[in-house]
Amino acid sequence: MDTPHGFHITFGRIVPDRYDSHLERRLSSMKGQYSDEQAFARLAQNGDPVLYEVYELARPAVHGELLSGISIVHPGKVGNEYYMTKGHFHQLLETAEVYYCLAGRGRMVTETPEGDWAVEELAAGKVLYVPPRWAHRSVNTSENEDLVTLFVYPAEAGHDYKTIETRGFRKLILDLGKGPEVVDNPAWGG
Ligand code: F6R
Ligand code: ZN
Repeated sequence: MDTPHGFHITFGRIVPDRYDSHLERRLSSMKGQYSDEQAFARLAQNGDPVLYEVYELARPAVHGELLSGISIVHPGKVGNEYYMTKGHFHQLLETAEVYYCLAGRGRMVTETPEGDWAVEELAAGKVLYVPPRWAHRSVNTSENEDLVTLFVYPAEAGHDYKTIETRGFRKLILDLGKGPEVVDNPAWGG
């Protein structure tokens, strides 16, 4: 919570000591992805905050190689929707991914093209396996802590962002006054 006279200090920022790429995703790159467009516009008037970051170790995009790295979703909300990653299917749909949560709290929102969906809790120490065919998005549900995950996936997988950008996920994670809740996405366009 912001207070008019106070400040808060975030301790223990996790950053890998070696990486090949560092991506920063700002609010402007998430246009159309949050359910409350007015809240999005209001937030955008005050600047273009970094919502999440990805550090990755490069490997050739060939069969047998694995990509690994660290994903950091910062705390915050657009309206009542928590900061989250864009989310994607892998372009090679039959490829999986492992996530290991290092810090923070959140949810992994997943779904398949066949209509199955699942929302799993993320907390430090939790390992999540995202099977082939499941689109995935990580959501930071903490009020003031980064959600930090280590990920590993086949280097050849590739990313299909378009499908999610166009139709969204079936489920949203919103704070309607009682903390994180799984809510049907009224704008889901599948
Ligand atoms: C890679 C993967 C993660 C995400 C990262 C950012 O396949 O799932 O490394 O890339 O958490 O999320 P997106 O890529 O959805 O912006
Ligand atoms: Zn992925």
